Amino acid sequence: MGSVRIESSKNYDVIIEKGILDSCGGIIKTTAGGEFVCVVTDDTVDALYGERCVSSLLSAGYRVEKFTIPHGEQSKNAAQFIRLLNFLAEKRFTRTDTVAALGGGVVGDLAGFAAACFTRGMKFVQIPTTLLAAVDSSVGGKTAIDLDTGKNLAGAFYQPEVVICDYATLDTLPDEIFTDGCAEVVKYGVIADAAFFEFLKQPVRENIEKVITRCVELKRDVVAADEFDNGIRFILNYGHTVGHAVEANSNFTISHGSGVAVGMCAEAKAAAKLGICSADCAEQIESLVRAYGLPTRSPYDARALTEKALSDKKRRGGTIGVVVPTAIGQCRVEKLPVDKLYDFIRAGIE
Ligand code: NAD
Ligand code: GLY
Repeated sequence: MGSVRIESSKNYDVIIEKGILDSCGGIIKTTAGGEFVCVVTDDTVDALYGERCVSSLLSAGYRVEKFTIPHGEQSKNAAQFIRLLNFLAEKRFTRTDTVAALGGGVVGDLAGFAAACFTRGMKFVQIPTTLLAAVDSSVGGKTAIDLDTGKNLAGAFYQPEVVICDYATLDTLPDEIFTDGCAEVVKYGVIADAAFFEFLKQPVRENIEKVITRCVELKRDVVAADEFDNGIRFILNYGHTVGHAVEANSNFTISHGSGVAVGMCAEAKAAAKLGICSADCAEQIESLVRAYGLPTRSPYDARALTEKALSDKKRRGGTIGVVVPTAIGQCRVEKLPVDKLYDFIRAGIE
């Protein structure tokens, strides 16, 4: 069993242990207390793990309701958000009760935002079941829904009481969804830990506890330094300036991990051309991305990518932030004037 303590406006543990889903009720009782839990999940995860989660909560003495959304990003929207708030109201949940997010990043982001808003803040627990949620979205307190005009445009910083990561649940992930999460894993190696980058040359699945634990430790350090994303936390967006533009151009038919993989390669190659990192550094990143079966290129040209990148929330007035590696395990944020973004992206993809 591994456990990582997150220190932020609320301190909490990320417990990383095989089979721990069956003990979630007792852990939630100890950390969140209360008597009533709303399990928020999606239809796929519900069929696989809903019963075990509910049964553990009942054994711990909780009254339990379950709220299920259709799986996929299209459920992270205002309609499901309002549906969830109305459900919490109709079932008479109160501030001392708990919302438990059982699922991937979509469930976690939606449930967390509802927990932050209902009665101005209920107790919240994350039970991640995708690699992406385990290494990234369940930790650090970012919650959100998508608006018609863009991804994650409405949300709140809202930390959970505990994160319960049963990595045995990752065994049922389809390969492409597991691989998608690997993009965020590689990201941590590039931005913050050269030894971890080297370690990732071994298969992730065979070292899953170590991989999740190291990613969570690296995220812990960033969140402790900048919980509300006013500075260093921006480095977690490595690969995401171009990556989000790839996703948006595809109308979100290209997955987040694939977009980030392409973005990491493009942003590193542009950095190498600008002399910010070596050509070897950019080649090493591309080679690891390829080794995971992730894409290194997208079908979109620099014009199309620039246009979407400029509508992203990473833009601040006349500049847009791009994270660039300076070496493997190190990075910095470049604040590019918006009229320089096209040249940067073109350098990265040509
Ligand atoms: P997801 O939640 O849509 O899950 C992907 C798919 O896997 C879904 O179809 C789901 O039903 C299925 N699934 C989940 N667990 C499973 C399991 N154990 N076995 C089989 N199938 C399973 O997607 P995701 O990749 O986990 O998360 C993406 C979302 O996370 C995006 O909305 C993104 O914006 C958000 N995100 C948030 C943060 C943050 O800090 N809050 C960080 C990164 C990403
Ligand atoms: N996933 C980006 C962040 O947590 O800041």
